[in-house]
Amino acid sequence: LAEELIISDSKLKEERYNTLIPQIEALTTGEPNRIANMANVAAALKETFDFFWVGFYLVEDNELVLGPFQGPIACTRIGPGKGVCGAAWSEKKTFLVPNVDEFPGHIACSSDSKSEIVVPGINSTGVVEFVLDVDSDTINDFDKTDQHYLEEVVRKLV
Ligand code: SME
Repeated sequence: LAEELIISDSKLKEERYNTLIPQIEALTTGEPNRIANMANVAAALKETFDFFWVGFYLVEDNELVLGPFQGPIACTRIGPGKGVCGAAWSEKKTFLVPNVDEFPGHIACSSDSKSEIVVPGINSTGVVEFVLDVDSDTINDFDKTDQHYLEEVVRKLV
């Protein structure tokens, strides 16, 4: 039964992403303002999944600066290589962190954050322009399904 519940859980998650992606597409298509698009994407993700914190950090003057988000107040600036966000930025890849307490250098903007996923927005010349950070207040809340769909969401914003 436990296994069936897990399967139906991940099916539900996939269905939710499959409903959400076309909505995001419709919201962002034809709108060139990145901040506006990020704001709506953060809201749509928060509404759909009730994530603890979901938002963007934008690369500016060799720092990550807080952008549109939904959730509790967060750190305003993150230096290169710092925390999960900084790691995703410098290594140009998605970081799935099941337990933030086990991630060296994790920045605890909130002690309620337990697991997270950070996806970098990489432009056509290979430069990271922003990162999408999603945090959960439960351990091990993100998996490859989240990675797959959140990477798709980020591609729509670069
Ligand atoms: N936990 C992140 C910092 C950003 S916030 O949690 C909103 C990190 O280590 O990159």
